[in-house]
Amino acid sequence: MSSELSPIDKAKFVAAKRAAQFVEDGMRVGLGTGSTAAWLVRCLGEMVREDGLRIRGVPTSARTAQLAREVGIEVISLDEAKWLDLTIDGADEFDGDLNLIKGGGGALLQEKIVATASDQMIVIADIGKEVEHLGAFPLPVEVIPFGWQTTQALVEETLISMDVLGRTSTLRMNGDRPFHTDEGNYILDLHLNRIGNARQLSLVLNQMPGLVENGLFIDICDAVVIGFGNGKVEVRDINAGTSSTERLDFVESDNLFADLGD
Ligand code: 5RP
Repeated sequence: MSSELSPIDKAKFVAAKRAAQFVEDGMRVGLGTGSTAAWLVRCLGEMVREDGLRIRGVPTSARTAQLAREVGIEVISLDEAKWLDLTIDGADEFDGDLNLIKGGGGALLQEKIVATASDQMIVIADIGKEVEHLGAFPLPVEVIPFGWQTTQALVEETLISMDVLGRTSTLRMNGDRPFHTDEGNYILDLHLNRIGNARQLSLVLNQMPGLVENGLFIDICDAVVIGFGNGKVEVRDINAGTSSTERLDFVESDNLFADLGD
């Protein structure tokens, strides 16, 4: 079954599989959103069902909550958990300081709240997500629907004084309607091409009325597990300043690979 996976899916899978090894019995774990995070949820579900791992998961989206329940993970709210031991999530881009762009899946708000409420955040990504400078991936920002065009105009005007190469933005669509986040908000994708000062941009964006949160994760991620299409995984820990690589075998598991939905 695993041989049917594309190299990029293999890379995502091995990153998720390796990251699952950081999860220990009794932990409260933040569960990310997206195709890489979905692999993690499946791996953890298998560990719960087959190895008796006892964890409680706080999902970062309705679709992750549904998948977590389907694979047998006990789901609790962030308010029930209060604080988390570890969050594992995907990313759209990460740089050498492990600063991130997230929100390609539209879940950046819950993802940032959950990651920030965790002792540790580990990002899982295929090697294609590594960049020298953030910004080639359009930066998602979550805005409330009321007056969103005014907010968009304010954002674009503010970008004039920011260290970025592009300054246009688009409303994210779902077919012919605006995409709605789990909180009922809209997403503006900012086409910046290159972000010179991500910390400053994040602070400035979050001061605007109508803008709820932006997809820059600065100083939140502690480690990244990078997957490669040949089964190699690299674990980089920014706090310890360490990096190690290993190779994971693809173990065929009908439970894990069945019903690929994400
Ligand atoms: C969702 C996210 C995802 O983590 C990000 O888009 C990466 O997704 P994928 O693993 O499918 O490439 O931020 O809001």
